[in-house]
Amino acid sequence: MTINKVIVELGERSYPVFIGHGAISEINTVIPKTAQRAVIVTQENIRFAVKLDIPSITVPIADGERNKNLQTIEFVSQKFAEFGLTREDVVIGLGGGMVTDVAGYAAAGWHRGTAVVHVATSLVGMVDAAIGGKTGVNTSAGKNLIGAFWQPRGVICDLDALATLPENEMRCGLGEIAKYHFLSGDDLLKLEMPERVARCVKIKAEIVSADEREGGRRALLNYGHTLGHALERSGNFSLAHGEAVAIGMIFAAHLAHVLGRIDQARVDQHYKVIGQTYGLKVKPENKIDRSELIRLMHGDKKAVTGLTFVLDGRSGIETVKDVSEQQLHRAFDAMQLVEK
Ligand code: GLY
Repeated sequence: MTINKVIVELGERSYPVFIGHGAISEINTVIPKTAQRAVIVTQENIRFAVKLDIPSITVPIADGERNKNLQTIEFVSQKFAEFGLTREDVVIGLGGGMVTDVAGYAAAGWHRGTAVVHVATSLVGMVDAAIGGKTGVNTSAGKNLIGAFWQPRGVICDLDALATLPENEMRCGLGEIAKYHFLSGDDLLKLEMPERVARCVKIKAEIVSADEREGGRRALLNYGHTLGHALERSGNFSLAHGEAVAIGMIFAAHLAHVLGRIDQARVDQHYKVIGQTYGLKVKPENKIDRSELIRLMHGDKKAVTGLTFVLDGRSGIETVKDVSEQQLHRAFDAMQLVEK
């Protein structure tokens, strides 16, 4: 049984990510030596066992993006208090992206910073959410608008956890893997799953090491996310994150074409990779409200000066500022979506 180890290099805050079948066996190696107790933040439907060398309690949180909010942080923090969790102890986030975002943010705030270890049980968690220290919750104004950069002490990506992952969750992960396909140019589907996950982790680790707080290059990880987030919110999260990101990348390809950054062949390649290679939806099944999506995109936190997009181009994928509404309309027209 091979367990891959990738280090996220961040000086004294560097940490290992263990990837492979049975990687959970490494959990006790990433628990801080000072920790005398642990709170495991998870969800009822997560059936993946974690055996720790220290006493622990399990705190299940409600499912679904709409519960990724400050009330859940308050609930979890209350459980920390009841258990007597101190700053020397540890929080474990056991679950998908929602769980690790909540556990990470609660840990970041608890006593102004308590260690957190993530055990990612979804494909999205393994290739993206659990790595890189972004934590946070949603507000009515947008996704992940309240949060903190709080790096974990270690991350476990045990592929055994994927055995019971629902198919739509797997598709969701493939959406994020398709993103790495465009960022790196690698044909990731050629690799077996453990190596594929390890390769994605390595790509993300390198980007995070170079730009931890998203001053530049890390923003590229948001490829497909500007429309993706708007689609998720407009459908009240009925579209899963990775599926929304996949459609967002198709939109980004059309927009890049409108801006003269890529040719039609490259747009077609996006359809081929996302629709055929990764088997993901290339447009929403439901009717869309274009003006609502544009409004939501303006609310996206990456919109600093006008609308900012991450777009493909001749020099690769880059951040492009001040995209006009007229250009957005031309990209929507090219997608031929059914509108309300
Ligand atoms: N999920 C994007 C990032 O971690 O920066």
